[in-house]
Amino acid sequence: MKKQILRKINNFSKSNKYRNSIHQLIPGGAHTYSKGDDQFPILSPAAISHGKGAYVWDIDGNKYLDCSMGLTSISLGHAYEPVLDRVRAELEKGVNFQRPSVIEMETAEKFLSLVPQHDMIKFAKNGSIVTTAAVKLARAFTGRKLVAFPGDHPFYSYDDWFIGTTDCNKGVPNEFSELSVTFKSCDIDSLKQLFNKYPGQIACVICEPEKNTCSGCNCQQSPEVFLKEAIDLSHQHGALFIIDEMVSGFKSAFPGSMTKYGLKPDLATWGKGIANGFSFCALTGTKEIMELGGITNEGEEKVFLISTTHGGETHALAAAIATIDVFLNNSVIEHNQIIGNLFLTKCAELINKLEMNQYVDIIQCSWLPALNFRDKKGKISSAFRTLIMQEMFGQGVFFQGYLCPSFCHTPSDIDILIDALEGSLEVYKCALNEGIEKYLVGPEVKPVFRKHL
Ligand SMILES: Cc1ncc(COP(=O)(O)O)c(C=O)c1O
Repeated sequence: MKKQILRKINNFSKSNKYRNSIHQLIPGGAHTYSKGDDQFPILSPAAISHGKGAYVWDIDGNKYLDCSMGLTSISLGHAYEPVLDRVRAELEKGVNFQRPSVIEMETAEKFLSLVPQHDMIKFAKNGSIVTTAAVKLARAFTGRKLVAFPGDHPFYSYDDWFIGTTDCNKGVPNEFSELSVTFKSCDIDSLKQLFNKYPGQIACVICEPEKNTCSGCNCQQSPEVFLKEAIDLSHQHGALFIIDEMVSGFKSAFPGSMTKYGLKPDLATWGKGIANGFSFCALTGTKEIMELGGITNEGEEKVFLISTTHGGETHALAAAIATIDVFLNNSVIEHNQIIGNLFLTKCAELINKLEMNQYVDIIQCSWLPALNFRDKKGKISSAFRTLIMQEMFGQGVFFQGYLCPSFCHTPSDIDILIDALEGSLEVYKCALNEGIEKYLVGPEVKPVFRKHL
């Protein structure tokens, strides 16, 4: 089969114009580096005009089945009506006032009813704000400086305490990054070594509860085992434990992995899917710690926790309430994981049929299934991932190597995805045999956290 026959989408003319001018206006051309041009092949959309359900349309009018779902923030579907209805009603009433809107209390009660381990909550517009606030609170509570996290987890915040530890650390003074120390995820001994190396100095451990790679992890144990030990160990050493449910929240379980595994972290951070793409994130925690950020304990030193003009924007809170209600009244997690499992089963059948097991790995995670792509020598290859993206876009599927299932994805969407994947893997086979240069148009995608452009 020839790739020319497979490709349905060839017109990226408006996208090309957009690509050529956006970098003059916006550094990076986008508002997260993960949306940037260096993360996509040339033959792909540069900007999206709108989305509905599981589909998005680019500025040239091309339609795509969406597998990425707004950096995994769209848990229900694009422009999901029950959420929009609640948001519209709130918009009519105004979005920001000089005193808190009444919806703040309603949202706080609703969210906390999902997290019985925690008593108090603060809202924010971005995940980085709540993870940074959690770190600050832990430092204030313990009077210690160091923050520990798994060095092999990709992202916790765009703030200096995290970015300073990546290759992309220009602009961050060493004095800041030296306050962050790392251990190996799932490896309790490496965390023990860290506590022994810095006795009485670590304020907190912050950690994602599980990754979609956990199922195929070398550690061969459930995340629950590590997390329970890590929480106990942190407490023995007088440090707080923060679970970052930004990605796992409203996906791995409802509300998150801490429920699934029966964990009681001191603080938890939430974002992405919890308001179906609207800008609503949250920090939850126990009263003893969270109330440090309060103003009622007269005489105590004040901790300037989260304080932002837009943190309580009413329609985003309404979106969170509506999203939570949809999750409470429907089997959203079950639906999404059925879709994820269908993708996994059909991918396995396809890869077997095409005899490509040595080139394509399947990450067996029902809530965020993914594929890894390998070159002829068996090495994980971003060039081949780029080729797959290029071919999937060409067949109307917005695919970057993973599927974020939403309540709007249907089994027939998975059929569409698998058909496109079959066509793309045929091209992949040709590229393995004849050389990737012959098939990939433009450069391969680059790592987000790289030292040089
Ligand atoms: C695990 C994790 N924590 C925190 C963040 C930061 O969230 P935001 O991009 O909303 O600032 C992200 C973003 O991808 C994340 O994946």
